[in-house]
Amino acid sequence: PPGAQQWVPPQPRDIAELKAAAAGCRGCELFQDATQTVFGRGAEDARIVFVGEQPGDVEDQHGLPFVGPAGRLLREAVDDAGIDPAQLYITNAVKHFRFEMRGKRRIHQTPGPTHITACRPWLVAEFSRLQPELVVLLGATAAKALLGPSFRVTRSRGRLMPWPASAQHPEDFPVAEIQALATIHPSAVLRADNRDAAYRGLVDDLKVAATV
Ligand code: URA
Ligand code: SF4
Repeated sequence: PPGAQQWVPPQPRDIAELKAAAAGCRGCELFQDATQTVFGRGAEDARIVFVGEQPGDVEDQHGLPFVGPAGRLLREAVDDAGIDPAQLYITNAVKHFRFEMRGKRRIHQTPGPTHITACRPWLVAEFSRLQPELVVLLGATAAKALLGPSFRVTRSRGRLMPWPASAQHPEDFPVAEIQALATIHPSAVLRADNRDAAYRGLVDDLKVAATV
């Protein structure tokens, strides 16, 4: 795929301008079957940016990130961790819903490396605009999109890390000041055998984020 870069405005005034431009993105084939682009949302002066994987079925229909079951759990965890939701901006590594039809149902498919790479310019544009202090990576897709394919969430979760130099790309935002923290994806909490323990793990990681 050509990637999103040609749709990204070079000097956006605000997030709203980025969002409007992303509505017309044809950077990979995912726009064809999805309902709409689901861009990030939150405070323009957010100190913390959360990055998920891609919109789910509910998000695809509403056009907003994390408004389905995973989003409900995430908001609860943010609250339990003592993070002020007014300081947040929430987005996804890939901005269109990828799915396959099974009968009449749309079943989530994990985005592939080509989709993550194609969509990355939007994430970079969001970071450049927001200049957050901390990026919280929710799950493996987001973590690998930003920190590289060898990053392991299970091994490195819940720790504040300086933005690794190895994850910098020539076209990127200035990263010197940004920290990163990876944690489990809220959808993985919903699927976990021991959901209470998985939830506590998420909240514990987010408490570390709250110290920034
Ligand atoms: N899961 C995600 O990663 N992002 C959403 O927006 C919803 C569910
Ligand atoms: Fe563009 Fe990303 Fe949608 Fe692909 S998934 S069409 S790159 S916004």
